[in-house]
Amino acid sequence: MTYQDYKTYFKKEISEKYTDSESSILFDIFVQHLMDWNQFALRKAMTEKVENKQSKELQNIIDELKTGKPYQQILGETEFYGLKFFVDEHVLIPRPETEELLELAIEKIKAGSRKSEAFKILDIGTGSGIIPIVLKKHFPETEVSAIDYSENALKMAQRNAEFHQVEINFIHQDYLKANLIEVYDVIISNPPYIGMEEEDEIADSVKEFEPKMALFSPTSNALIFYEKIAEDCKNHLAKNGFVFLEINQKLGNETLELFTDVLSEVELMKDLSGNERIVWGRF
Ligand SMILES: C[S@@+](CC[C@H](N)C(=O)[O-])C[C@H]1O[C@@H](n2cnc3c(N)ncnc32)[C@H](O)[C@@H]1O
Repeated sequence: MTYQDYKTYFKKEISEKYTDSESSILFDIFVQHLMDWNQFALRKAMTEKVENKQSKELQNIIDELKTGKPYQQILGETEFYGLKFFVDEHVLIPRPETEELLELAIEKIKAGSRKSEAFKILDIGTGSGIIPIVLKKHFPETEVSAIDYSENALKMAQRNAEFHQVEINFIHQDYLKANLIEVYDVIISNPPYIGMEEEDEIADSVKEFEPKMALFSPTSNALIFYEKIAEDCKNHLAKNGFVFLEINQKLGNETLELFTDVLSEVELMKDLSGNERIVWGRF
């Protein structure tokens, strides 16, 4: 079978889960990954025969895709903010909304800081480590710490930090019970913010394959992390320090309110899809 024939077979096999254009892209992604080819090399090889070894590997991928497992977990990696990050079943697959949060944070930090200044940054609920790693790459002089309650997530975050050759102070901690010690110039977080009553609205593939601890608030209070962050800002955010939070789009005003009395400047912002997704502010 040629790659062209295999592509037709691949698309047909996963057609219950993916549209034609999605499966076409997935085929290209997986073959390029398996063969270490770029798009051009794949295009040239489309009339060549698929070797047995690759055929078996592609069949395994088809079988996994059919279960609904996210392709990033099958691939073991994803792209975020233009960089490669390793992912597995212990970490949330980075979402594009979080790229928007980071873009805003980078822009505000750049505008609000003196170039020579050394910063302290804290990321709460770091997962695969995307937030501290991107920030450390943009602000190499900063001291970046990141908390997560999942030891397995922290292993993946450490692997990503090593891959990107940045030093992050990863802390294994239940943030909800933590007494912060230091004062930070930036506190940033994309914490679990889905309320238990919203569980039915979440896609099965997300609920089944992504860590529940990353998605759902541990109590019926979907704002529990934001309440603690607001409290911590009082004693652990430096003067003029920044807070950047990804939030539950249904709780924009409720989240904003938690910070209005704490911060001197605070704003609720929409993401590119028009959903209220970010609260950011300054102490
Ligand atoms: C929504 S995910 C965000 C992951 C990553 N920052 C991102 O944006 O892709 C939330 C993270 O918070 C972590 N987490 C959940 N409960 C926690 C707790 N009590 N203390 C610290 N981290 C917690 C989860 O393990 C998960 O990695």
